[in-house]
Amino acid sequence: PEFMRLVAEATSTPMKRSSHDIVPRALPYYTTWSNLYGDMFVYTFGSEVRLTITDPELIKEILSNKFGHFPKISPNAQTRDLFGDGLVLSKGEKWAQERRILSPGFHVDKLKAMVETMAELATKMLNDWERRIVMAKQPKSVDPLEIDVLEEYHNLTADIIAHTAFGTSYEEGKTVFKLQYHQQEIVREANTSIRLPGQSMLPTAKNLHRRKIRKMIENNLRQIVEKRLQSESQNDTQHKDLLGIMISAYKGQLAGNQKNLRMSIQDIVDECKTFFFAGHETTASLLTWTTMLLALHPDWQQRVRAEVINVCGSRNPSSDMLNQLKLVSMVLNEALRLYPAAPVMTRCTDRDMKLGNLTIPKGTVLSILTIVTMHNKQLWGEDANNFNPERFSEGIANASRHPMAFLPFSVGPRNCIGQVFALMEAKVVLCKLLQRFSFQLSPACVHSPTPFGILKPRHGMQIFAKPIDS
Ligand code: HEM
Repeated sequence: PEFMRLVAEATSTPMKRSSHDIVPRALPYYTTWSNLYGDMFVYTFGSEVRLTITDPELIKEILSNKFGHFPKISPNAQTRDLFGDGLVLSKGEKWAQERRILSPGFHVDKLKAMVETMAELATKMLNDWERRIVMAKQPKSVDPLEIDVLEEYHNLTADIIAHTAFGTSYEEGKTVFKLQYHQQEIVREANTSIRLPGQSMLPTAKNLHRRKIRKMIENNLRQIVEKRLQSESQNDTQHKDLLGIMISAYKGQLAGNQKNLRMSIQDIVDECKTFFFAGHETTASLLTWTTMLLALHPDWQQRVRAEVINVCGSRNPSSDMLNQLKLVSMVLNEALRLYPAAPVMTRCTDRDMKLGNLTIPKGTVLSILTIVTMHNKQLWGEDANNFNPERFSEGIANASRHPMAFLPFSVGPRNCIGQVFALMEAKVVLCKLLQRFSFQLSPACVHSPTPFGILKPRHGMQIFAKPIDS
């Protein structure tokens, strides 16, 4: 009952808009336990026992381990349907090969070429806001237009990943995204209910429905892959976006020390599933929380806008300009610290071992609560729960801070492959937003951070936006 009370509180307490103390309310049940039981404690979920870890030294030991002693856990059938056997879930040699194949797709030079597309798609979204704001004023409505930025950013980041990673339009990928949202609901339900072993294999109505959705997603992705395969052979051109790289691996056309690496069509479909999903939900979360924080802190909104106008004027940002946006980076880092898109990571132990002062058996599930570490007052000071981007004025690395205190993208071999992509995208979108709109929260907005796997506001994030020159 205590747990359920804390969850209910976490998801339904209205935001104290005037307060600077903005502890995410999803935190209480993690932080309360940490305060009660320390950096390492055990809890049970059904028959499963989980060891929870928030100590930065232990986190380092686990995430930086190069020998695979802390593998990812085997996901349930629902999660596997969502991500496929792509980079997020795969293990061992399959993971290592595909990480090598895909890494060049995230090389800075490749990403620089995507900045213009990101800016154009953000502009399209903002033009639409402007159009809707003008329409809402007619004939004589007195109410300003309310915009749910969570939904807007979901669509935008989906559009961006579809264009930049797969050279396809959002329209083409739309069915996949829609079905993936539906699948996410199925995963959520599975992860919050206790299931018997083998239950997901039974031919129940729910399981049959789940399999049908998976097939529909895979068929859609296959069509996108096949269309590209055909266009490549017709035009004899090689697209070097993520899909192009994977198709080269399928055709055995990779060069240099990658020339022996191969991917099957099913491997490609699985990676597409992973990137369609992991590549946009997370960044949408970051943009949503950042917009909320800037709406709550008009002084920072003004400072950051002044920086953007100073560096970019009203032009689209270039990658060089993005590098000069120091305040924007500070704000994004602070948003990632307070509201990390991926608040918890899960691993297990591949053998009996000693961790800290505990001896733990093989197969123990480890819950790494980076969200708690990133709010730890001993690591971040008494104002750890407040929005204070100044703490990143020296950059991320700070001699006075533990190197594992800030982990929004994880560390070690399984860190986020899309980190630079995500930060570049978030900077471009913020830059365009600040150039054109000032914004504040709608009084209807409820502070409802909820860890649906990804930390998102349960009830959306409603703002009022006003074109700058009106
Ligand atoms: C892995 C965070 C954006 C693709 C991860 C992990 C974190 C993370 C914490 C490690 C998960 C774990 O070990 O359990 C974030 C955040 C993002 C973001 C906070 C945005 C603000 C992206 C984007 C892409 C992406 C834009 C792709 C374009 C991936 C992939 C992995 C991953 C494929 C698995 C890497 C591997 O295991 O080799 N991300 N991510 N992420 N992320 Fe991201």
